[in-house]
Amino acid sequence: MTYREIYDAWKTDPEAFWMNAAEAIDWVEKPSKALFDDKAPLYEWFADAKVNTCWNAVDRHVENGRGEQTAIIYDSPITQTKREISYIELRSRVASLAGALRAKGVEKGDRVIIYMPMIPEALEAMLACARIGAVHSVVFGGFAANELAVRIDDCKPKAILAASCGLEPGRTVHYKPLLDGAIDLADHKPDFCVIFQREQEIAELIEGRDFNWHGFQYGVEPADCLPVEGNHPAYILYTSGTTGQPKGVIRHTAGQLVALNWTMKNIYNVDPGDVFWAASDVGWVVGHSYITYGPLIHGNTTIVFEGKPIGTPDAGTFWRVISEHNVKSFFTAPTAFRAVKREDPKGTFVTKYDLSCLKAVYLAGERADPATITWAQDHLNVPVIDHWWQTETGWAIAANPIGIEELPTKLGSPAVAMPGYDVQVLDEAGHPMPVGELGSIAIKLPLPPGTLPTLWNAEDRFKSSYLEHFPGYYETGDAGMIDEDGYISIMARTDDVINVAGHRLSTGGMEEVLASHPDVAECAVIGVSDALKGQAPIGFLCLNTGTDRPDEDIVKEVVKLVREKIGPVAAFKLACVVDRLPKTRSGKILRATMVNIADGTSFKMPATIDDPAILDEIRDALKALGYATA
Ligand code: COA
Ligand code: AMP
Repeated sequence: MTYREIYDAWKTDPEAFWMNAAEAIDWVEKPSKALFDDKAPLYEWFADAKVNTCWNAVDRHVENGRGEQTAIIYDSPITQTKREISYIELRSRVASLAGALRAKGVEKGDRVIIYMPMIPEALEAMLACARIGAVHSVVFGGFAANELAVRIDDCKPKAILAASCGLEPGRTVHYKPLLDGAIDLADHKPDFCVIFQREQEIAELIEGRDFNWHGFQYGVEPADCLPVEGNHPAYILYTSGTTGQPKGVIRHTAGQLVALNWTMKNIYNVDPGDVFWAASDVGWVVGHSYITYGPLIHGNTTIVFEGKPIGTPDAGTFWRVISEHNVKSFFTAPTAFRAVKREDPKGTFVTKYDLSCLKAVYLAGERADPATITWAQDHLNVPVIDHWWQTETGWAIAANPIGIEELPTKLGSPAVAMPGYDVQVLDEAGHPMPVGELGSIAIKLPLPPGTLPTLWNAEDRFKSSYLEHFPGYYETGDAGMIDEDGYISIMARTDDVINVAGHRLSTGGMEEVLASHPDVAECAVIGVSDALKGQAPIGFLCLNTGTDRPDEDIVKEVVKLVREKIGPVAAFKLACVVDRLPKTRSGKILRATMVNIADGTSFKMPATIDDPAILDEIRDALKALGYATA
């Protein structure tokens, strides 16, 4: 069948489409139907089924004769370690960890925070939670203690699983002091913590609260898979919204199983047994869906890569890993390719490896610029597929589904809507825009299985953030257009979210940190174009009257403050002091105009601007920082 036939079949009978996809999952009790719409506009999928994620991702492959197949390849150029874990080994490791958690009182529905680097134990921790119906929330290692504390207070975990350290090139990330600091800051206190001691750093444990990863599993009964309801939360993953308070995206168990399994063949074109590699981090949604769950549910081999695209040790690392481990489909962020391309523009490293195993490359997380795609196409000689999705959706809204049919590529477009997604471009009032014209991208409800049903403990916020602007639709927060062939283009965010090196960050959250500095009266953070990271944040500070300290000192302090409060991942390095911020007459800061000035793009003077002269000062400040070329 062609893509068009499959998409139309879904549109004609979504219920039949998803019940058919559900056949690929091992159910303890089959769902009576796919969609549960009695609480519309809140929807659930396969809600009355009984099922277990870990069974589907691990045990069933052992039962079906794949026990000896490698489930996880750990490749860490940072520690010079390589290790393989078979499905049978993974089952016993996960069952033991799950048993130990259960023995300490973790039950179905309890939350468990996982704060770990890219090591196989992070995946085992996720699967152990799934095995006993606990709800994990993985927190990215690049976040500071304060961000971890916010998540602890929001999801109130019974336990936190962490590693002693993470390893960034040239720097050890001391997880344990960050963890201790977060627990001190948080109002909620977990019952206990489990620390995986890495040989690079042994953390000090707090007697009575902290347990050693291996010690606490000693002598416990391994846990079997506990069947849970189809609408039982599998996990909570926090993502940036417009404020400093992150949104807790929930993923339900059954929808995730059905949807991710469907994508592995249809989008990523891998069969069980094939090696699939997503070079991301378990702290992001790509890591959840395509390092841990998708490939394992589908019986693939997944790769846990602890390294960077460049510098660990060189710009050939990706190609070495692909060649050495026989990777068939490879998924990364455009920023990673831009980094490689910058170091190796001619692709010299590519020619050093036999990449005949590689059949396709997938890019997501940010807009894939045509130059990067072309570079990858030219040097790798395989389809390079840009696909568009979000933490909220958990899997691609738009892609080129080469497992079904390879559609022609249009540079700058992540191709077409996947079955399950009725994507539309709307004007401010919610009317459809003509073909090819820019508007807000919205998805007609219901969203498909595997997408967010709501936000953790924040149903009202879920409705106001996503459902209220365009009744009957999910608002993606992205602006773009759809051409006459149905190809979607994503142009920009419609909110204060920016994308730095494929990491989604809130400028509002950064502004909250800047505003907490005692000398700052007012501030704005904007995301400006960056050749490597896509976007980079810049802060503008207006100081309190009477502040007589040097501007440079205050700038240094706010840069440090953002690193301390949000974390290194914010990549907040640039700020400047200005007398005033450009505003509308009603007092709204004209951030988009500031971005235009920084990027050197032409813009129309906003009709509502209070005092156009302020823009000159902004231009001068940006020039001093090396921006504002126009
Ligand atoms: N734990 C702790 N700190 C981390 C971290 C982690 N897991 N991941 C990143 N950081 C730190 C980095 O060390 C860096 O710190 P620094 O300011 O001391 O240099 C900072 O956070 C910014 O990180 P990032 O923006 O990712 O830059 P980078 O220097 O680590 O890597 C590239 C930059 C150019 C290599 C980038 O192209 C890249 O590949 N980034 C990752 C893309 C990605 O996987 N995105 C996920 C979505 S699919
Ligand atoms: P995240 O939730 O971190 O995955 O970020 C999701 C956001 O990243 C989307 O809303 C888009 O703004 C952006 N994004 C992700 N993939 C793409 C893509 N292929 N093209 C353009 N933007 C993308």
